[in-house]
Amino acid sequence: MGVNWVDIGTIHDIPLRGARCVRTPQGRIAVFRTADDQVFAMEDRCPHKAGPLSQGIVHGTSVTCPLHNMVISLETGQAQGADEGEVRTIPIRNRDGLLSIAVDTLSLLVAAE
Ligand code: FES
Repeated sequence: MGVNWVDIGTIHDIPLRGARCVRTPQGRIAVFRTADDQVFAMEDRCPHKAGPLSQGIVHGTSVTCPLHNMVISLETGQAQGADEGEVRTIPIRNRDGLLSIAVDTLSLLVAAE
């Protein structure tokens, strides 16, 4: 049991201030790139009604859900302002622009059943 780092391409595969979606056995993961080239990963599911956060607008280190405009921190996964909710964040590694995300091998086993 432990963490597997899985390569998901390069930072250049992600539009600036945008996101792409990666399919994993744990579900769809949204990978975001901020204006200053920070990268973040989290489940592609808004805590409100499961909107696709990967289609939201990135501003600073937050993303606005495309459905009803909830603002989610990319750093913590927490809803901002008066809204409540949390998205599970995924550890992401950036090595000279090569990105990998941490996949929990325990949940991989669970997903495979
Ligand atoms: S589904 Fe994201 S704000 Fe409603």
